[in-house]
Amino acid sequence: MSDLLIKTEKLCKTFHHDGIKTPVLFDVDMQVRQGEFVAVMGPSGCGKSTLMHILGLMLSPSGGDIIIDGCSAADLNEAGRAKLRREKIGFVFQRFNLLPTVSGYDNIAVAERIRGNTVDGQVDNALAAVDMTEKARFKPGRLSIGQQQRIAIARAIVHRPRIVMADEPTGNLDSTNAETILELFRQIHREQGITIFLITHSLTAAQYADRIIYMADGRIQDIG
Ligand SMILES: Nc1ncnc2c1ncn2[C@@H]1O[C@H](COP(=O)(O)OP(=O)(O)O)[C@@H](O)[C@H]1O
Ligand SMILES: [Mg+2]
Repeated sequence: MSDLLIKTEKLCKTFHHDGIKTPVLFDVDMQVRQGEFVAVMGPSGCGKSTLMHILGLMLSPSGGDIIIDGCSAADLNEAGRAKLRREKIGFVFQRFNLLPTVSGYDNIAVAERIRGNTVDGQVDNALAAVDMTEKARFKPGRLSIGQQQRIAIARAIVHRPRIVMADEPTGNLDSTNAETILELFRQIHREQGITIFLITHSLTAAQYADRIIYMADGRIQDIG
């Protein structure tokens, strides 16, 4: 049994708009092992978010394949990919992407209901894991930005995913809040065994990872 959680095979992506082709990823071969904490670094525009969207099955590649937990994305239909994404992956974004009109608790509960899961103690467990139990009933606008990101992390882990993919999760935070958020990633990695795939500009953030993948111009530079 392989311990590979994600493997890509010659992944390519070209965007097409108004007759203009923008090639972004070129033959990306990379692997993430079960239980790893991996950071991806690279200059702005080099294709990091595009890579994450493809690994997270939110975007289809133009060529090549991605294998998640032994399942080839190319062999699945859209419904199959959506199921894999919903069950095995959690996402965290730079701008949190919380619903502004409902509480932190409901932001997490809604994500579970969309998955078709009944909501009971797992929302409370996720809130406790990010130390937000006391403010669970506050809407995002009443929370600090660091607290909003903690709610977003609770939402990403509530269904016990195999992997959390985070795109510049500390990009909107000051250094103190960034450190709290990075410590949380470390904690869910160590205590819950969740694999972490972290895109970051910050070397301080990347140093929380076991391994750093460097990207430039749509290619992986070095796998350390
Ligand atoms: N939906 C899209 N349509 C066209 N071009 C895109 C799209 N998304 C990203 N790009 C282009 O792909 C390149 C890589 O973008 P991105 O993956 O966001 O890089 P990074 O996250 O490393 O900053 C950029 O040149 C960007 O303009
Ligand atoms: Mg990006």
